[in-house]
Amino acid sequence: MKKIQISPSILSADFSQLGNEIKRLEEGGADMIHVDVMDGHFVPNLTIGPPVIKALKKNTNMLFDVHLMISPVHKYIDAFADAGADIITIHPEATEDLDSSILKIKEFKKKVGISLNPETKLDIIRSYLDKIDLVLIMSVNPGFGGQKFMPEVLDKIKELKKIQINHNLDFDIEIDGGINFENSKIAIKAGANILVSGTTVFKSNNGDIKKNIDLLKS
Ligand code: DX5
Ligand code: ZN
Repeated sequence: MKKIQISPSILSADFSQLGNEIKRLEEGGADMIHVDVMDGHFVPNLTIGPPVIKALKKNTNMLFDVHLMISPVHKYIDAFADAGADIITIHPEATEDLDSSILKIKEFKKKVGISLNPETKLDIIRSYLDKIDLVLIMSVNPGFGGQKFMPEVLDKIKELKKIQINHNLDFDIEIDGGINFENSKIAIKAGANILVSGTTVFKSNNGDIKKNIDLLKS
């Protein structure tokens, strides 16, 4: 079984202290850093882009798990690869040609993630599962932190896990949105091995990041 990993989303961090917030996550035992990139077009919110990622990456060796919620995404892949993204996750709806976007990410020797919105069916990625490194299952509609977990997406995780076992595949299954200390256990049981968390990691237990990460893993 894959090790359970926590990928805290810096969307819930103090943006005036981002460098320090990443240090705190590192000290608290985060396995990677989840960076939510939003364009105000693919999703109704705007966040950060490559220059900020590049600046943050300079001061840390943490793996950057970059979740691109931007459309059209294809022409920006270079910029995120150059900025230091380690995993680049895209939504199938955000590119005209999923095959060439996957290839482009691979050309930069980055890990490829494909993200499915709550209403997006697994069918759209079945034929890609042997070519990608990670599937990101959204358990909220993308755009904002602090939303309520949608348990109906767990069926997709169970199905993915089955396919993975039956075909002896190795991709990671990541879940993103509304993860707390209760549903984390259910998500792990369903088959997720990477949990994204913004609100729970940064705000629970008076912001005790280490405690929150440990609790999410347990
Ligand atoms: C939503 C983002 C998530 C979100 C997670 O569009 O992709 O990463 O910020 O935050 P919480 O854990 O607060 O739902
Ligand atoms: Zn995300």
